[in-house]
Amino acid sequence: MLIARSLAELREGCARLRRQAGALALVPTMGALHAGHRALVRAGVESGAATAASIFVNPLQFGAHEDLSRYPRDEAGDLAALEAEGCALVWLPDVATMYPAGEATTITVSGPAERWEGDARPGHFRGVATVCAKLFGQVRPDRAYFGEKDWQQLQVVKRMVADLLLPLEIVGVETVREPDGLAMSSRNRFLTPAERAKAPVLNRTLRSVAERLREGAPAAMLAEATEALGRQGFEVNYLALVDGPSLAPIDRAIPAARLITAARLGTVRLLDNIGV
Ligand code: PAF
Repeated sequence: MLIARSLAELREGCARLRRQAGALALVPTMGALHAGHRALVRAGVESGAATAASIFVNPLQFGAHEDLSRYPRDEAGDLAALEAEGCALVWLPDVATMYPAGEATTITVSGPAERWEGDARPGHFRGVATVCAKLFGQVRPDRAYFGEKDWQQLQVVKRMVADLLLPLEIVGVETVREPDGLAMSSRNRFLTPAERAKAPVLNRTLRSVAERLREGAPAAMLAEATEALGRQGFEVNYLALVDGPSLAPIDRAIPAARLITAARLGTVRLLDNIGV
């Protein structure tokens, strides 16, 4: 596995892999890798492309009061996990490379970036879109893989790639879950044992609402489920039925509908979503 810490090393590595494999895949990450990330790398490798992963904790997507300094870091563990999955190259840029002195350009996405995480974390998707555009320009992959766990992020990146006519395909990969249904996340490690035991209730609630949606009255069902989660100690930020690609709220289950939620449990903000 090639390790690139400078743009020169990255260019040389990507050129070599492209010569060998023909196609390049990219899995952008912020490290602290779990089974969800490993599934993204596997999807890239199984597609036949030489698969690169980037590890960069992107300061631009963290708000002033968010957990940038607390974000878990484990470079040695991440490199071992990537190598085990057949990753061909790891790109480890530093902040000065990603955000050169005097930088004056960021990417703002509207549409799917509005509402939900967009409201809860102002500036977050500007940070995500900007760093992804830079990573795509540096690695020039044919495909990039993102988890469906961050459903809104996946739609924002797809919209940006379509709007900027970037020459790559964005591939969404199904959420990887713990056996009890909790969606894998680097932040799950901050749950206390009691919170960890309670956390799967969020996914169970999504599944139970999804099953009952055909009975009608989604608004009442969502309000009732939000209250029930509150009684169990979740601070629900949103629990909504949306059109999958645009994230616009909807009042009935159409084929592209998605149930999305964000809820705080202790200090951890849990995200989950399912198709309905
Ligand atoms: O999902 C993440 O880990 C990050 O938002 C991403 C896509 C790597 C951009 O920093």
